[in-house]
Amino acid sequence: MKLLITGGGGFVGARLARTLLARGTLAGQTIKTLVLTDQVASPADLVADARVQDRTGPLLSQCEALKTEAFDGVFHLASAVSGECELDFELGMRSNLDSTRALLDALRACGQASGKPTRFVFSSSVAVFGPDAAIPMPSPVADDTLPAPQSSYGIQKLICEHLVSDYTRKGFIDGRAARLMTVSVRPGRPNGAASSFFSGIIREPLAGVEAICPVDASVSHPLASPGKTVEGLIKVFEASREDFLGRLGMNLPSINVRVSDMLDALEQVAGKAVRDRVKFVRDERIAGMVANWPTGATARRAARLGLHPDESFADIIRQYIEDCRKTPGGEAALKGLA
Ligand SMILES: NC(=O)c1ccc[n+]([C@@H]2O[C@H](COP(=O)([O-])OP(=O)(O)OC[C@H]3O[C@@H](n4cnc5c(N)ncnc54)[C@H](O)[C@@H]3O)[C@@H](O)[C@H]2O)c1
Repeated sequence: MKLLITGGGGFVGARLARTLLARGTLAGQTIKTLVLTDQVASPADLVADARVQDRTGPLLSQCEALKTEAFDGVFHLASAVSGECELDFELGMRSNLDSTRALLDALRACGQASGKPTRFVFSSSVAVFGPDAAIPMPSPVADDTLPAPQSSYGIQKLICEHLVSDYTRKGFIDGRAARLMTVSVRPGRPNGAASSFFSGIIREPLAGVEAICPVDASVSHPLASPGKTVEGLIKVFEASREDFLGRLGMNLPSINVRVSDMLDALEQVAGKAVRDRVKFVRDERIAGMVANWPTGATARRAARLGLHPDESFADIIRQYIEDCRKTPGGEAALKGLA
């Protein structure tokens, strides 16, 4: 089969690509070609795989050519992140909304040419949820909570969820939207996401570097490991239409933890000296955004697909440490461990 991952040079996209290449199959079919597209080049280990084709450039400029290329499946992960979209409205509209519509139209053309709608997984976000004056946000949010996004990024994700639903209803694609919870621990450098600190307060202390937490220790949020997130995307792809239930976005599983729980887990796994590298310095811009985010989430539909959350946040930290040890040069990210 021939697959496309947009955002294949990103954190989740590259991990998904590695997982798919290691499995060798998806939905029972052999993966012969995996096209990775991103505005940044894909990691060298992926490009070195003979099954991978790497295409670098803005997604919007690639969609015209995609109209004549048939894919058996697409994972659409390319996206500007939340903080970027708040700072640059045009960027978010172009990268998240215009690019997604152009991609959907390209796949519609492919589906019409082949007579078979392309299976399509859209990576939506927990950011579709938020409080509205008329409709308070429940805690936790569930699959059937009315989304009321409080950021441009969340609005763009919700619009795309509905586009995926309508293109599916019309038979143009076979689409599914999976709402990713905040993924922690993200390796590498901090990114422009307002949620970046949910990884930074673990990653930086483990690397021996001080980390600033911009919100109070009592802040609670739904988190998932990279491993569970990729497992969720694959299961959503493989689910039959009946098992996916309807066409609306589905929450992926998460554990709902407070910042203080995260730091307790860090101390449990790595010791007090590592935990003490986290300092609290409130950032009103970030704290204001976080105050509108869900404090927790449930994922009943995902559970029906056999998807379950990580056991504990300590397990998530252990997974990160194990990943660093397996990555060439990754030990440098653990310099802060005794
Ligand atoms: N990581 C999380 O916590 C999280 C949570 C909820 C939803 N998501 C969603 O999951 C997906 C993957 O997230 P991630 O953490 O890997 O993000 P990421 O930023 O690491 O990867 C996204 C990739 O998309 C690429 N990209 C952005 N705009 C593009 C454009 N116009 N054309 C081509 N490429 C473009 C970026 O270069 C980047 O490599 C995204 O859609 C994101 O919105 C992530």
